[in-house]
This record gives sequence, structure tokens and C-alpha cells, in this order.
Amino acid sequence: DERTFVMAKPDAVQRGLTGEIVSRLETRGLKLAGAKFMQISEELAHEHYAEHEDKPFFDDLVEFITSGPVLAMVWEGADATRQVRQMMGATDPAEAAPGTIRGDFGLDLSQNIIHGSDHEDPGANEREIDLFFDDEELVSYERADEPWVYEDASH
Ligand code: GTP
Ligand code: MG
Repeated sequence: DERTFVMAKPDAVQRGLTGEIVSRLETRGLKLAGAKFMQISEELAHEHYAEHEDKPFFDDLVEFITSGPVLAMVWEGADATRQVRQMMGATDPAEAAPGTIRGDFGLDLSQNIIHGSDHEDPGANEREIDLFFDDEELVSYERADEPWVYEDASH
């Protein structure tokens, strides 16, 4: 099954939204494969956001993402990367649809609560998972409700 990297950003942790984020992904039927509560180093922030290195907001982005603890996670499921992005909503919470995580909890572009691997960037999910997790930190298992989430068990 497809795996994707998801992170509750420092604002989500400070605002007590980590449980809500986990709950939304979990009740959707996505399966948690790994989780790590951690503070991101300057070095890791630069690697993770390398694609934005030349953007004017890069320094602010690094400062924000390293400003407090985050909950880094790997979630698994059919089409997981794209499904998580849909649940996150638009990058700018002010433009994100109600019902999405950013649309329900955010108002500010830089403090936008959640990160998910970009489904339009092939390999981004695996690259980010490798950056944050060792293989032995990820768990493969069957969730009891899988036959009730997927009609075809071999998804
Ligand atoms: P991520 O899941 O965090 O990667 O968000 P995204 O993929 O929806 O957006 P993108 O990768 O384009 O930008 C990465 C992050 O940089 C965003 O989540 C924002 O927090 C921040 N960001 C993007 N554009 C701007 C901007 O114009 N100004 C500021 N201050 N921050 C921005
Ligand atoms: Mg992105």
C-alpha cells in the first residue's frame, strides 16, 4: 500500500490539534505506520524544504518549522498521498475549503497546521519518509476494520 509523510506543524502542537489531526486521518481509514514527536533541527529543515531554498519566505519557513516540537507521521492506504492532500486543503488556510484541516483550523499562510507529501512531486513521499524515519521505526500490520474500509481486500 502507498505510504505518505505527514506532519503536525509546531502551531498544531501548541494549539492542541495533534489529536484532531490523527483522528481525522485514522477515522478516514488511513493506517498509521509510524510516528515520532520531535523537534526539527536547522539542518533537517533545510533538507526537508530544499525545494523552497530560493523563495523569499524560506528563512521564515525554517524558523517556524524549527520553533517547537512537531508530530512526524507515516500514514498508509490506497492513494494515501493524494487523499491526505485533499484532507489538508489549500496551502493558504484562508483559501482552504471548509471541511479540510487547514480550512477548519487555520487563517494564516505560514502557520498552516499540517504538512503532507506533495502528490504532484513523484517520489516526494518516499524521500520524506526516508528523511524522517529509519525502516525499523515503521510498522506493517493489518487493521481490523480493513475489510470494512476496502471492498477489495487486496488494495
Ligand atoms: P507543505 O505541506 O508544508 O509543503 O505545504 P504545501 O505543499 O501546501 O505548500 P508549499 O510546499 O508550496 O510551501 C511549503 C510551506 O511554505 C507552506 O506550507 C507554507 O507554510 C509556506 N509558504 C508557502 N508559500 C508561502 C508564502 O508565500 N509566504 C509564506 N510566508 N509562507 C509560504
Ligand atoms: Mg509542499
